[in-house]
Amino acid sequence: MKLTLVAGARPNFMKIAPIIRAIEKSILQGSNIQYRLVHTGQHYDDALSLSFFQDLNIPKPHVNLGAGSGTQSEQTASIMIAFEKELIANPVDTVLVVGDVNSTLACSIVAKKLCVDVVHVEAGIRSGDRTMPEEINRLVTDAISDHFFTTTQEAGANLVKAGIAVEKIHFTGNTMIDSLIQNQSKFAPPSLLYMNNLRGGDYIVLTLHRPANVDSIEKLQQIVNAIAKGATSTTIVFPVHPRTRKNLNALKLNTELIVTDPMRYLEFMYLIKHSKGVVTDSGGIQEETTYLGIPCVTLRDTTERPETVMIGTNELIGSSSEKVTHFIGKLVNGEWKKGSIPDLWDGKTSDRIIAKLLELYL
Ligand code: UD1
Repeated sequence: MKLTLVAGARPNFMKIAPIIRAIEKSILQGSNIQYRLVHTGQHYDDALSLSFFQDLNIPKPHVNLGAGSGTQSEQTASIMIAFEKELIANPVDTVLVVGDVNSTLACSIVAKKLCVDVVHVEAGIRSGDRTMPEEINRLVTDAISDHFFTTTQEAGANLVKAGIAVEKIHFTGNTMIDSLIQNQSKFAPPSLLYMNNLRGGDYIVLTLHRPANVDSIEKLQQIVNAIAKGATSTTIVFPVHPRTRKNLNALKLNTELIVTDPMRYLEFMYLIKHSKGVVTDSGGIQEETTYLGIPCVTLRDTTERPETVMIGTNELIGSSSEKVTHFIGKLVNGEWKKGSIPDLWDGKTSDRIIAKLLELYL
């Protein structure tokens, strides 16, 4: 089986790392798999890319397409142009894409137009919010993929509703949780904890990068003020995504806020695991906090990961000041629900995916 694996942006790296590990294991056991790892270059800063390759032990990509930033269409188009050349020069049976970023969409379209099978890992999740670029990426990728690996039964049900044949849907679990479980013993305290004399449970972690929350200075200021009000004297640690940085520099900041650059995986996961709770608009962090049993407040109106709210530790609250302050207050006072871990989030998802791919393509 000849396979191209696509990774382009930060959340892809945690999903692709355990798949590569499962492939290597399967090759050692005698399977006939050849793979190429393609980095699209959507994320290029060391803090969003190289450090993840190092922390997660991902081999150097066979190629980096160097797509870089741009508008939605510019970025998608430059990935498509470069990936078409890559796939023509290095033909394979199957392209495996993960998640819902622009690289996922761009490479799926290119592969299908070259009549190459596409398998989508983390297929079928839906927020229902078509103003999010990720939702468009999910809808289009799932409309043209050949096989669908899902994190939950609900994601499979979404695919069935969209007319996908059940035999193409494979409920295998969550590869991001594979990464978490495989690396848990290596989580390492970031130096900012010592520098600020912070211990486990002393602080909350904030991450924000959705355009709706960070692209306007007024909106960002309103959110940060509401969080600071709810947190009262609890310290907030805020690793800042480059997208957010520009507008953050223009804000008047509360002194309890510790602003820092994006963190490497092993340090960020340590920070989360030992926090009082997390406030975020990320997708993946909703899943990681659910697995770790850490309270999570999600500043969005919708989520494509409803299991994290229904059975996990997540509360989806939107971004109005009153709600933000109220829920952060509850979080810092320890008034939070206890969650449990969704089915098949057990660290063995990537092994199941590779076993299924061998069954399908060998
Ligand atoms: C992308 C994904 C999002 C994911 C997020 C995680 C899409 C549509 N969005 O959003 O789903 O949650 O990654 O980080 O694919 N930039 C840098 N250095 C980099 C990369 C980006 O400075 O290495 C800056 C650029 O100014 C760029 C901006 O960040 O314009 C946004 O980057 P982009 O890749 O367009 O989207 P993200 O917001 O990172």
